[in-house]
Amino acid sequence: MHSYSLIAPAKINLYLEIIGDRPDNYHELAMVLQSISLADKIDIRSIGIESIVVRCNHPLVPADEANIAYRAASLMSKQFPEALVRYGGVEITIHKHIPVAAGLAGGSTNAAAVLVGLDLMWELGLTHGELEELGAQLGSDVPFCIGGGTALATGRGEVLSPLPNLDHIYVVLAKYKNLSISTPWAYKTYRQEFGDTYVTDTEGQENSRQRVHSGPIVSAIAHHNHAEIGKLLHNDLEKVALPEYPQLLKLREAFASENVLGAMMSGSGPTMFALTESQAQAEEVEAAVKAKMADPDLEFWIAQFNSNGISIAH
Ligand code: C5P
Repeated sequence: MHSYSLIAPAKINLYLEIIGDRPDNYHELAMVLQSISLADKIDIRSIGIESIVVRCNHPLVPADEANIAYRAASLMSKQFPEALVRYGGVEITIHKHIPVAAGLAGGSTNAAAVLVGLDLMWELGLTHGELEELGAQLGSDVPFCIGGGTALATGRGEVLSPLPNLDHIYVVLAKYKNLSISTPWAYKTYRQEFGDTYVTDTEGQENSRQRVHSGPIVSAIAHHNHAEIGKLLHNDLEKVALPEYPQLLKLREAFASENVLGAMMSGSGPTMFALTESQAQAEEVEAAVKAKMADPDLEFWIAQFNSNGISIAH
């Protein structure tokens, strides 16, 4: 086929612990990542000329190398030059539904969709591991976005251990339209403020990873204990984002005071989310928080946990 349409789901963090520094200047992390049904649609098709064209309906999404989806196509062209000659260039159309710079891996999941789509379109037959390896060259969350579901992520975020699927959990998401947080800013500020707590030795970092691996949130997921998962939500980056943006703390408190399993900021923010047991509960929580906050700048979404990452749209 000369074109594919792919569904690229967003992710939320159920857990994000910053363990310490890495020699590559990234942070050593232990995270639990979860795909959700809020998704972008990515269309890719072969074009005659050997170039990459990106189109997007969102004004803040660039159409050049600044777009990670463009870089994904560029990486594939470099890795598989004979495919580029054989099939021609590629046009990528991004139908954006996931908010941008929101802590929901919107860019990473678009890049993951381009890798999966080009593998199909160029009939490369890459393994899941090979796709993840290419993804890791583009961004820390890209490997997770390929397979999605529920996973424990360590290293920079690219070392993945699958966890049992969490079906039937719903999520209400809220984001201030005009507030975005830069991920590098969040990590840099965390390093400035909490760098003295970092575990620096290899053995200590391995112990920290093991502690999360065999820790309470992984156990709650294994037992499908939704109430416990809600109580164990944790994100170290809230320690820098919430003091800097008091409206986020207010939003978190508004969510937490409703009938929810738990509430937290996703990734480096600023999206705040709450987990519920049903769609009806999620709708009630959205209505209550909307009324309480009464801010026209605040946007809401309701989604469900997803058991997969990139899929072909039917
Ligand atoms: O890998 P990605 O491009 O998504 O990372 C964005 C930024 O987030 C990095 O430039 C770095 O500042 C920070 N980061 C980090 N440690 C990680 C992942 C991201 O410090 N494990």
